[in-house]
Amino acid sequence: MSTPQTSALRLRRPDDWHLHLRDGDEMGAVLPFTSARFARAIVMPNLKPPVITTELALAYHRRICSRLPAGAAFQPLMTLYLTDRTDPAEVDRARESGRIFGFKLYPAGATTHAESGVTDVRRVDRVLERMSEARMVLQVHGEATDPSVDIFDREAHFIDAVLAPLAQRHSRLRIVLEHITTAHAVRFVRGARPGIAATITPQHLLLNRNALFAGGIRPHHYCLPVLKSEADREALVAAAVSGDARFFLGTDSAPHSRGAKEAACGCAGVFSAHAAIELYAEAFEAAGRLEALEGFASKFGADFYGLPRNTDEITLRQEPWRVPDAYPFGPGELVPLRAGETIAWRIVP
Ligand code: DOR
Ligand code: ZN
Repeated sequence: MSTPQTSALRLRRPDDWHLHLRDGDEMGAVLPFTSARFARAIVMPNLKPPVITTELALAYHRRICSRLPAGAAFQPLMTLYLTDRTDPAEVDRARESGRIFGFKLYPAGATTHAESGVTDVRRVDRVLERMSEARMVLQVHGEATDPSVDIFDREAHFIDAVLAPLAQRHSRLRIVLEHITTAHAVRFVRGARPGIAATITPQHLLLNRNALFAGGIRPHHYCLPVLKSEADREALVAAAVSGDARFFLGTDSAPHSRGAKEAACGCAGVFSAHAAIELYAEAFEAAGRLEALEGFASKFGADFYGLPRNTDEITLRQEPWRVPDAYPFGPGELVPLRAGETIAWRIVP
């Protein structure tokens, strides 16, 4: 009989710097997973309709807090959805609210609920100028929207054609390139001026694009930006475990109902909140760099956002458990990453 392993890992409580919580009962279903692990999360504004004003963000913040499990100390950090028509004065309103920490740039049409996004970044130059002055963070979905650009090249194309010039034009703007997926993005961040960082998801550390087609089409591995090559995955792992403070945790956990994923035109999004820190622990352990997890998960993001690091701790234990086939999700259910399979780490309540 094999002896169960009991190796434990104590970690300063982590934060999730990129999260989709949705709204209503669906939010109620997923929020406890995040609040059990993370102290704070940047909550994406791509609701329908999008969260484009301070007033809407504050109302969303109240709805999130009203759904928190009793006793949870979780703090939602809000961000506003940039549109071609965002008023530069919104930056001041957002900053004064004390609850809004950035603006999210979705190139129009790039991903889920990005229809109202920015059609040309030049149109938001005045907003970005105001953000630089107010020291607000720009969070970027970095993909080209020209349908003639190969889907696997959209991140690199966007970086070269849009992001690099934008970062030069706004030389003091703090920018997070969200959910990076390529070696090209890693090189861009490493070579960039100060004030530029990137988040990395668990699925992009653990999977390459073969996972989309393993024995058949796998809609639950489809997200945007789409999974990339093994060489890209290796570059992301190297960046995440390097201890370079410009790379930090952002799950991009993005729940969709089973029906919306298992469809002729399935939605983009991988749900990982049920085991987010556990999955990162696996990726860091596989790289032999568990000791680098705390910086990536619990320090670098807070430092970049100019927020205090958390002071309490969580404990992970090396003890395999089986992920359920599905979790309830409003009127439907959702299929989590690793559904029906095993995860090597467990969070100790
Ligand atoms: O896969 C994704 N899902 N990528 C995004 O950028 C949006 C997200 C969502 O909201 O479902
Ligand atoms: Zn996202």
